[in-house]
Amino acid sequence: MSTTAPRPAVVTDFSLVTGLSRTRKPLQRRMSAMAGMYADQRAAERLAEEDVLVYEFFDMGVPQSSGEVAYGTSITYPGKVGDEYFMTKGHFHSVLDTAEIYYCLRGRGLMMMENPEGDVQWQEFTPGQGVYVPGRYAHRSINTSPDEPLITFFAFPGHAGHDYGTIESKGFRKIVVERDGAPAVVDNPKWAR
Ligand SMILES: [Fe+2]
Repeated sequence: MSTTAPRPAVVTDFSLVTGLSRTRKPLQRRMSAMAGMYADQRAAERLAEEDVLVYEFFDMGVPQSSGEVAYGTSITYPGKVGDEYFMTKGHFHSVLDTAEIYYCLRGRGLMMMENPEGDVQWQEFTPGQGVYVPGRYAHRSINTSPDEPLITFFAFPGHAGHDYGTIESKGFRKIVVERDGAPAVVDNPKWAR
């Protein structure tokens, strides 16, 4: 397509209450697709049998080229696998050195981040707070609320791409669990070097 050809502006809607769109369909990730990612395998398998919905998000079909901005909302539901909070699969970007911004619209949680060199960071999500994930950092949203969905709006460079496989096989170095009624970041017993 010529770069000078007219292109229509795109209008989308997202609910601040549910994170969902009336006009677009989200992609859903259920426990059966990620049971192996949680530390408590037995608890994960029980929830996988019920095929609990863990999170959903939007792929708006933005062209995957530099200059474009991919965006959407992500909704991670409340729940725990054993004592580990519900979370997204998490990923690196295929073009490693591309960043992403997540803005928290509703709920409570954490963004867990780590780079290939092993630097680990996490930042709290509360409504009105944005977390800028630097390039080179894998990222995963974790819902630490007992009863509210964690809803974020995200945007990243169109050409970034997604690498889910590295995290699927290795995990993150840290996980977030409930300890004495509060979230705690601990070493992931399943993390593979
Ligand atoms: Fe991302």
